[in-house]
Amino acid sequence: MTDLRQLVGKRVVMTGAAGNIGRATAILLAQHGARIAIGDLDVSGAEETVRLIEAEGGEAFVVKTDVSSEEAVANLTATAAERLGGIDIAFFNAGLQRSGRVTDFEAQDWDALFTVNPRHCFLGAKHVVPYLKQSGGGVIALTASLAAVKGGPGMTAYSASKGAIVGFGRALAAELAPDQIRVNTICPGWIDTPFNQPAISFMGGREAQEKAVSEIVPLGRQGSSEEIASSVLYLVSDASSYMTGQVLIVDGGVA
Ligand SMILES: NC(=O)c1ccc[n+]([C@@H]2O[C@H](COP(=O)([O-])OP(=O)(O)OC[C@H]3O[C@@H](n4cnc5c(N)ncnc54)[C@H](O)[C@@H]3O)[C@@H](O)[C@H]2O)c1
Repeated sequence: MTDLRQLVGKRVVMTGAAGNIGRATAILLAQHGARIAIGDLDVSGAEETVRLIEAEGGEAFVVKTDVSSEEAVANLTATAAERLGGIDIAFFNAGLQRSGRVTDFEAQDWDALFTVNPRHCFLGAKHVVPYLKQSGGGVIALTASLAAVKGGPGMTAYSASKGAIVGFGRALAAELAPDQIRVNTICPGWIDTPFNQPAISFMGGREAQEKAVSEIVPLGRQGSSEEIASSVLYLVSDASSYMTGQVLIVDGGVA
């Protein structure tokens, strides 16, 4: 029987796999044969992801990582390379959201969003690229957001931080193509996770948010973490081998 798993033997380092989209993605990549190093601040959440992967016979481990620290990100990539015997794929997915009108927004919240969202993608790339080169090439996927390409009230800082990831990913793809390293960015739309609580509160609560989603999203509903995971699998597997520098918007038809 043909083995349809797409990542057999692949060594993955990723961030934010204690959370919803990250956990669903880690599980799917492991089901496709990848071995995974998870960097997250939420160690117990990340360990639960590992437990779920191991329960299905997969392999993953946690490296406690605050992605706002360059030292911690460098330790994550070095530990991943040492324990996995190299790195083929990196997925920088950790993220923060804060909402508020621009006139009310605190500079320290702006800085927090930029430190975790785009800066961690920069630090991750900086420290993973030497390992990808050692592997003879590889793949980097970044998580931005629909908010990077379509604005909404209360989302100025978050949109700006995710827009920075889109720009970073495009330039990084151009820089790394000669090394056979592909870089693509995924922009999830409204995905039903607690991550959106700041935006939901800003919109006036869950009922108001669901009404807005049903009007804004052509498919009429929020997406699931699993629907993002399957798109990340596409980006990090050979299924997208001739694709780099792109932005994949998975949003039920909004953008
Ligand atoms: N949920 C959505 O609707 C949606 C939409 C568009 C984009 N996104 C993006 O998808 C990604 C995952 O979102 P999610 O919905 O799974 O959210 P989540 O809150 O469940 O996951 C976020 C993860 O990032 C980790 N993290 C945050 N700060 C960190 C830090 N300093 N160091 C290390 N890890 C840190 C958290 O521990 C968690 O594991 C984020 O980048 C988010 O911006 C989400």
